[in-house]
Amino acid sequence: NLRLGVLASGRGSNLQAIMDAIDGGRLPAEVAVVISDYADARALERARSRNIPAFHINPAAFPHKGDYEEAVVDTLKKHAVDLVCLAGYMRLVGAAMLEAFPNRIMNIHPALLPAFPGLHAQQRALEYGVRYSGCTVHFVDEGMDTGPIILQAVVPVLPDDTPETLADRILEQEHRIYPEAIALFAAGRLEIRGKRVYIREG
Ligand code: GAR
Repeated sequence: NLRLGVLASGRGSNLQAIMDAIDGGRLPAEVAVVISDYADARALERARSRNIPAFHINPAAFPHKGDYEEAVVDTLKKHAVDLVCLAGYMRLVGAAMLEAFPNRIMNIHPALLPAFPGLHAQQRALEYGVRYSGCTVHFVDEGMDTGPIILQAVVPVLPDDTPETLADRILEQEHRIYPEAIALFAAGRLEIRGKRVYIREG
């Protein structure tokens, strides 16, 4: 079984979708460990309620960002993680993690990359006036939301949308495509060639 390490800063609804896909037999994997940079992240509670090891690692407790990341990597390694899944993890991944898990870190972003990378993607899409937005699952590289794209899903932007209603519509698709992307990885069906990810026949 593919062992997942999930990094989450907050609510953890994508973590929940991953755990539900595992329970539902749609994802042959297990969540080996959950790590948050916030002590009160609901993601930690969701993990603990399933007896999944869950740790708060406080970035402020480390003098250098590199030391914080080493601590995260140690914890991931200790739990024999094969794939790192960022699920609402609100920090840029640095060299320590990228070197420890080359092409083995995925992220979900609430926009159609390369549009609207970074924070507040849904609000910025709304303000820009795009007719469609969506979400992207991608491998993580050293840039901000720039890594090879695995799956995307599109949703319409509606006239009455607020950032919240648009975010909710996008979130529904996140919960669908994130487990799907991880399942493709678990099946060994993803091949990265340069910037492009090819999905092999199942
Ligand atoms: C999700 O919409 C995710 O795409 C986004 O944060 C939310 C986390 O929700 N991630 C980013 O914006 C990353 N820059 P969740 O904690 O309920 O999964």
